[in-house]
Amino acid sequence: MADEPPFPGFDVTKPSIARTYDYLLGGKDNFAVDRAFGDKFIKELPGSRDIPIDNRGVLVRAIREIVSTSPVRQFIDLGSGLPSADNVHQVAQRIDPDAKIVYVDNDPIVLAHGRAMLAENENTVVIQADLREPKSIFEAEATRALIDFEEPVAIIFSATLHHVNDDEDPAGLVRFWADRIASGSHVFISHFRSENDPRSQELEQVLQGSLGRGRWRTDDEILALFGEGFTVQEPGLVAAAEWRNPKAPEDLREYQRLIAAVLAVKD
Ligand SMILES: C[S@@+](CC[C@H](N)C(=O)[O-])C[C@H]1O[C@@H](n2cnc3c(N)ncnc32)[C@H](O)[C@@H]1O
Repeated sequence: MADEPPFPGFDVTKPSIARTYDYLLGGKDNFAVDRAFGDKFIKELPGSRDIPIDNRGVLVRAIREIVSTSPVRQFIDLGSGLPSADNVHQVAQRIDPDAKIVYVDNDPIVLAHGRAMLAENENTVVIQADLREPKSIFEAEATRALIDFEEPVAIIFSATLHHVNDDEDPAGLVRFWADRIASGSHVFISHFRSENDPRSQELEQVLQGSLGRGRWRTDDEILALFGEGFTVQEPGLVAAAEWRNPKAPEDLREYQRLIAAVLAVKD
């Protein structure tokens, strides 16, 4: 039986990316339809849960690295997902309480949770918007109030651009921000990675079949998303579990190869 929606605007008849991701990470902000979809991965593609787990791990490391090794203190997290234990603002503000974060997501559950959690954090806002319409995010009052585009910014595309289909021009979305951010700004991308592995095709079929999105791209395709004018930082594009991870396993499990991360700095 489907759950009752807690607020108007929630569709509990179809799985949502944010809520399924939450379920796969062990969260509680999901409904029967999301759990049924998530169970497909857990039961039919055992091991594939490594993908969301490794992704969340690399996101935390990336934010920590940016705040510890650069002057960047402003973040726009596009497709931020549900608050979990260690969100971007918590990681960044632990190092510098003045770090400013704009969370953006088009799933209403993210807004509901974000508003409650961030009520007393004046350096953080959450905006409900579609990352495929970047102008509305760039021009939003909340963004303008928090972010100074004369100063370097970090634009975070964590596990989101693979939910933008080819005909929706994911590279154009990165270019939109690249044209508006100062030199020294950082762009972080984590992304489903195909690796010529039949498992990635299987996963793509499951996601496309139910959500109509979910692209496993090659390393060249992912790097091409940056376009001109960026310098990719060490260690380049690698499996998320390996990116600046002193505790990276020596041998990755099979699904761990299928999610990659990369950080680049605007020249
Ligand atoms: C896999 S989750 C990743 C969450 C978080 N960025 C992370 O890495 O842990 C993808 C998130 O992107 C959001 N999303 C997908 N497409 C979007 C779009 N077109 N506009 C805004 N958010 C989107 C989903 O709602 C979901 O919360």
